[in-house]
Amino acid sequence: MKSQNAIVFGGASGLGEASARKLAAAGHNVTVADLNEEKGSIVAQETGGTFVQADVTDEDSVKAAVASAAEGGGGLRICVNCAGVGAAGRIVQKDGAAPMAGYDWAIGINLMGTINVLRLAAEVMVGNEPGDDGQRGVCINTASIAAYDGQIGQTAYAAGKAGVVGLTLPAARDLARHGVRVMTIAPGLFDTPLLALLPEPARKALGDNVPFPQRLGQPDEFGDLAVHIVENVMLNGEVIRLDGALRMAPK
Ligand SMILES: NC(=O)c1ccc[n+]([C@@H]2O[C@H](COP(=O)([O-])OP(=O)(O)OC[C@H]3O[C@@H](n4cnc5c(N)ncnc54)[C@H](O)[C@@H]3O)[C@@H](O)[C@H]2O)c1
Repeated sequence: MKSQNAIVFGGASGLGEASARKLAAAGHNVTVADLNEEKGSIVAQETGGTFVQADVTDEDSVKAAVASAAEGGGGLRICVNCAGVGAAGRIVQKDGAAPMAGYDWAIGINLMGTINVLRLAAEVMVGNEPGDDGQRGVCINTASIAAYDGQIGQTAYAAGKAGVVGLTLPAARDLARHGVRVMTIAPGLFDTPLLALLPEPARKALGDNVPFPQRLGQPDEFGDLAVHIVENVMLNGEVIRLDGALRMAPK
């Protein structure tokens, strides 16, 4: 496939880092956008790309990031958003109802941040010249299998991710007239810095729950799927579970 300009939000770590590395290996020019400048700059340097500091919840910083990624001919054609946070807490806690601030924070980053990135990346993409296939760009969001089988304590996380699942089809329908595709990947359990904090026996126990392959997913497997979505123009408006057939138990 021809080299294209790509941006990966959350590209400093985990699934986003793997996506940035895989897109670069496939020949694309990658802009790594993340809050974490230290790690993001290293990924950008190692992939021959550019780092921009960006907060997915902030309009100005996302606008500046997508504008920077669009520079250098061809426009911005690929946007992968992996920026996200985990959140846990029961609805009613020892001292009363779970604070709204926790919901605002998690849903603000995981859902509103996704919407912010999608709308601002798409705005730039609709101005691109269409390719031979009529395509002007592709946006890939990251949900979670918690959107479907959220566990105890995951209402904020699951609600945000279910929002990402829910917007995928209407966003694809909405942008179809411009030749911009929208896809979402819903990962199961992946071995990223998020899970690396757990002791090895706890990580093994999580992996043992996956029907097949009986292990945690590797970030590269997520990156490979992101590259495939970019290359397969027929994939549009769909959420792909990438989970080894895992269905999460209540806890
Ligand atoms: N690892 C898993 O098992 C798993 C499973 C399901 C879903 N996910 C989702 O995949 C995505 C990536 O997770 P990961 O495991 O790679 O996590 P990670 O913590 O390794 O990486 C997340 C990255 O997002 C960045 N980030 C956080 N908030 C940001 C913001 N406001 N603006 C810009 N960047 C921001 C962080 O700095 C970090 O570099 C998240 O949306 C997560 O919910 C992960």
